[in-house]
Amino acid sequence: MIGRMREFLRLVTFAIALSFGFCAVAQPVAVIPQPARVEQHAGVLKLHAGMTMASDAACEPQARYLREVLFPSTGFCWKSAEKKSRADVVLEVDAARVPEAEGYRLTVDGKRVTICGHDAGGVFYGIQTFLQLLPPAVHGTALQQGVEWLVPQVEISDAPDHPWRGMMLDVARYFYDKEFVKHYIDMMAMYKMNKLQFHLIDDSGWRLEIKKYPRLTEVGAWAGQNENRLGGYYSQDDIREIIAYAAVRNVEIIPEIEFPAHMLSAVVAYPWLSCTGKQHEVPRQHFISRDLLCVGKETSYEFLADVLEETADLFPSEYINIGGDEAVYDRWKECPLCQQVMQREGLKQVSDLQGYLTNVVADMMKQKGKTVVGWEEIIMRGKVSQPVVALIWHQVNDTIQATQSGHKAILAPATNLYLDFPESRTPGEIKAATWMPPISLEKCYSMPVNDYSPASTVLGVQGCFWSDQFIHGTVLQELSLLNENRSEKYAEYLTFPRLLAVAELGWCRNAVRDWESFRSRLGSQYARLDHKDCNYRVPEPEIVSMKEVGGKVRFELASPVEGATIRYTTDGSWPHSHSAVYTSPVEVDVKTDFRAITEVDSRHFSLPLYFAPDFSAFQQYGAFVAEWKPLVLASGTGKWRFEATGKMVGNGTYEVTFVRTRGTAVKWGQLVQYKRDETLAEIPAPTVVAPDVVTYRLTQTAFEAGVPFFFEVEADCGATSDSHGYVFVRKVEE
Ligand code: ACM
Ligand code: ZN
Repeated sequence: MIGRMREFLRLVTFAIALSFGFCAVAQPVAVIPQPARVEQHAGVLKLHAGMTMASDAACEPQARYLREVLFPSTGFCWKSAEKKSRADVVLEVDAARVPEAEGYRLTVDGKRVTICGHDAGGVFYGIQTFLQLLPPAVHGTALQQGVEWLVPQVEISDAPDHPWRGMMLDVARYFYDKEFVKHYIDMMAMYKMNKLQFHLIDDSGWRLEIKKYPRLTEVGAWAGQNENRLGGYYSQDDIREIIAYAAVRNVEIIPEIEFPAHMLSAVVAYPWLSCTGKQHEVPRQHFISRDLLCVGKETSYEFLADVLEETADLFPSEYINIGGDEAVYDRWKECPLCQQVMQREGLKQVSDLQGYLTNVVADMMKQKGKTVVGWEEIIMRGKVSQPVVALIWHQVNDTIQATQSGHKAILAPATNLYLDFPESRTPGEIKAATWMPPISLEKCYSMPVNDYSPASTVLGVQGCFWSDQFIHGTVLQELSLLNENRSEKYAEYLTFPRLLAVAELGWCRNAVRDWESFRSRLGSQYARLDHKDCNYRVPEPEIVSMKEVGGKVRFELASPVEGATIRYTTDGSWPHSHSAVYTSPVEVDVKTDFRAITEVDSRHFSLPLYFAPDFSAFQQYGAFVAEWKPLVLASGTGKWRFEATGKMVGNGTYEVTFVRTRGTAVKWGQLVQYKRDETLAEIPAPTVVAPDVVTYRLTQTAFEAGVPFFFEVEADCGATSDSHGYVFVRKVEE
């Protein structure tokens, strides 16, 4: 489909060019996010070194930005025009001509480029669209030889649908340095995203310098000791530098100061912040500490007031994020001081204490002119009277609760917009979080989002990039594809190209959003990411058709990446950079013998096309978890450990079923469930041992997102080791 769509667009453009008798053929406009209105005319404008530029004072930083992008790749150093009316490139701000906030008009005719923005942000977005009309090499950091800098003649009128088009970057679990943060912001801005939630605090790291509490970063920013310690933090000067960099790009940085949970790093620095006062260490593995901020001590409120005031003064955003997720209240239940607050305030449930705390802080922040944002728990736990903004991360339907109680919401559901989940189940896929099913690019793009209106409760959308599986530089499980071990490259692999889908969700109205169109426009974006030295997940070849022809299976493929090569094998082996190049449809005897990759270059390629085994005959046993075969189970008795993360999400009663499909029957013994290394359940061998199907039943009460779960089973294979089969799980009760 993608190939055909692109071919169609090419033909239309070519026909236009022919009918007007032009020799330079304009590429069809393929901008992401899709602009609201595009009129493409025949013909192109050729940019050259002798052009002149004029810009209004209100968008001077954006004019400088444009020069800084163009100079390295094109060598153009455009002189300033003496008069705006004579300039070849005009950047201006005119809220009367462009009434929509952050909107712009971009006009390219045979002589001039005019970008008129509602505000400086609108001008920046006009520049982004303009750059996407130029060849991808425009983003290069070195002089590009032999490129003609042609821009199609267009009139584009564009403005965002939603005011909130965000990304969350978790710098607390893994410390990304200032340069990487700037790069991430730059990439967001390229796709017109405008809010960065800076997740600065978590159990495993405090990343923001607070002058009044130096131990937060002297102690709380580091795991381990001396030269072996890992971590880091941003000084207040670093923060000012990041904010200024983002401001030119119309990105607002919203600091997130997490409490009452996810703040063990602060408790390590100042143990008196918790109910027990116990000394802890900054953790080296992901877990969610139960040591909350004590809500019964006056010193806790002083701490919050001081920290939030310093933070609010540092960040110009009208918002401040207070986290608020995943608090488990054991400590508050046991703490006499917290219990006193419950009684004094007449609170019925311990969770009401969180609402009490949120109210105190929202009032405090209102006096600083700031609106509080937080994860959905801030409106779900206790009653909050100040209007706040809730990030809905579980069920999109929970926005109803926000509406009914006078709050605003942002859609950030883990199911679609948590970009640390893998894109696929293909063996070898790179994954960070695994506690939920994969999120393909299409699933991310296809999240329903209603159009925005000023009366809307939902301000927009936000992608979230968590780093809990990267903690302190842990190398993730799948390495070969990236051929390197820096977490930053994984962060990019997982973020891109899905960030582009989130960007379009936030920018475009429903009527404009279209998956096929998005996919076809995406093809030319990968080269832009390459020029920006931004890693991404290369998509597998597109199957245009797969047909049975005379007892054979015939594959027709298209490359989803413009300019990439497809390589394939027909013997079931992994293709590599010397495998056959796909040029025309290929026939094989068995579908699964055909494997093909998209190769951008010899070091950057996709996973092979993968046809998952068909489990439809085993539906009654639930979801597939693991497969055993002779190499997995040896002869004699032994233990087999397999991962079940993401298969048993949430607490409840489950059945774990072992189904033999071939070979000798296995005598199964005790089944043990682990959460990382902690034993959760030990289920004895079933008394009735059916030869082919064996089911264990267990009740899970300790589910925790982001933590790996395993099973280990005793297996007696007898003298032979030729057994094959599958394990499934099924939830039977909540
Ligand atoms: C979250 O994922 N804990 C907000
Ligand atoms: Zn307490």
